[in-house]
Amino acid sequence: MLINNYLSKLDIKKILLENLNSITGSQAEQESQIIISYSSKSENNLDINNDEVDKELINKILNERVKGKPLAKIINEKGFWKKIFYTDDFTLDPRADSEILVEQLLIDCKKNKNVQNLKLLDLCCGTGCLGISIIDELDSAFCDFIDVSEHALNACKKNIIKFKQQQKTKIFHSNLFENYPINRLKCIDFIVCNPPYIPTKNYLNINKETFYDPRISLDGGKLGMDYYVKIINFLISVKFKGAVYFEIDPIITKNMYKFLLEKGVKIVYKKTDYLNLDRLIKLKFPTI
Ligand SMILES: C[S@@+](CC[C@H](N)C(=O)[O-])C[C@H]1O[C@@H](n2cnc3c(N)ncnc32)[C@H](O)[C@@H]1O
Repeated sequence: MLINNYLSKLDIKKILLENLNSITGSQAEQESQIIISYSSKSENNLDINNDEVDKELINKILNERVKGKPLAKIINEKGFWKKIFYTDDFTLDPRADSEILVEQLLIDCKKNKNVQNLKLLDLCCGTGCLGISIIDELDSAFCDFIDVSEHALNACKKNIIKFKQQQKTKIFHSNLFENYPINRLKCIDFIVCNPPYIPTKNYLNINKETFYDPRISLDGGKLGMDYYVKIINFLISVKFKGAVYFEIDPIITKNMYKFLLEKGVKIVYKKTDYLNLDRLIKLKFPTI
């Protein structure tokens, strides 16, 4: 047992930092704070007394963490946007990169004065972190959630309940649009979608920690384009009138732009993330 009952909170933090530094480098400080908060069931590190910290629990977490398991997969939660989401072995742990979809959609909504009763669809929802974060900020917005994984939808349901959004949400178990009513799709103003987009070859060489996320949430087929192609072709075929906010990655942008040009789909704008990497495109579809 590395951490015993006689250590102060400061000593515990030092031990955590020493152990986490070699695994997670620049994230060590943030992760040690999360572990201390989680082990004392507190959201604010400053308020924690030494005797509130569950040292046995910290040891358990640290033992798993030093073996390479991501922290979110050990404690079953991950911070995203303004909330802490439930996550598990069947869901992609929410990534900070994806917050740009929430941020941009909210900017667009706030620019447009007519933002009452917006209808959103979170396609490939996983934990539901995108849709839930958005409707949490827009009083009268409603969001549908689609995922092919029943396990992922269970996690999404847990988050909907955790954040008391039952009245503003509906869940659909569906392979993309297969079981989603077309009449419902016609009323959707915005689709937010972070589909699996890692090319299969790259997926087989991803880092050890990403392997803890389910393959179904990451592997986007030979060129990483399989899901985008299916979704875009379908939305063109039904003359979808709303806008789509897609998470993208530099790995697929060249193929993506070529495909959109061929299909006559309009790129309303593209955005880069805080590392200046292509991360978001907003699309509108030909309606004639
Ligand atoms: C990259 S994860 C995104 C999760 C979440 N939206 C986020 O941003 O953290 C992709 C999600 O797509 C789901 N998925 C994979 N294939 C699907 C399909 N054919 N139809 C619907 N969802 C699918 C996976 O189960 C996974 O939850």
